[in-house]
Amino acid sequence: MEMLKQRIRELGVVLSDEVLKLDAILNHAVDPVLTTEMGREFARLFREEKVTKIMTIESSGIPIAFAAAQELGVPLVFARRKKPLNTDAETYSERVPSFTKGFVTDIMVSKEFLSEHDRVLLIDDLIANGAAARGLIRIIRRSGAALVGVGIGVEKSFQAGGRTIRESGVRVESLVRISSLAGGQVHFE
Ligand code: G4P
Ligand code: NA
Ligand code: NA
Repeated sequence: MEMLKQRIRELGVVLSDEVLKLDAILNHAVDPVLTTEMGREFARLFREEKVTKIMTIESSGIPIAFAAAQELGVPLVFARRKKPLNTDAETYSERVPSFTKGFVTDIMVSKEFLSEHDRVLLIDDLIANGAAARGLIRIIRRSGAALVGVGIGVEKSFQAGGRTIRESGVRVESLVRISSLAGGQVHFE
């Protein structure tokens, strides 16, 4: 997606060979025009899949997931990272390690927002090792819902997340794929 590549070139900050700061477009600020275009692109890619629900994980996935939900005319549900007031049998919960942040978090989805009749499109802003996405996929599987695919804004393809999920048989579509951050430069595939 050319517009997203341009914004990453303009506004992304390479912090190391592994980390690309994207606060200006994904993690701290939101450009409604870019976000809407990303939602349109996800909707175009998955239009034939009879999606009934978009899912993401708070917080940075929410704007683009909302844009995709708006385009497809379906609801958005975001997994939460902190415990709701009553954690109980009514909640799906999965433990997710973060390699980047170095700690473990729990993600959870209330059972009332996910059913075996759903056809879910999972959207996330960025995939690195994919631990969070795999956690949400486990929740979707446990609910009995169908996972029609995963839409990712930025895939760091030098890390294993996108590949691992594809190898498990799930369709993964990334709007841009970054093969390397070597030399302080963003190298797109
Ligand atoms: P993983 O889920 O793909 O395994 O990611 P990992 O644990 O490695 O990363 C933890 C958080 O850091 C994730 O955000 C992930 O999107 C973000 N992250 C990892 N690498 C980069 C990077 O190069 N650039 C940017 N901008 N973010 C990166 P999160 O915990 O889900 O938080 P949130 O952003 O949704 O609030
Ligand atoms: Na993130
Ligand atoms: Na995210």
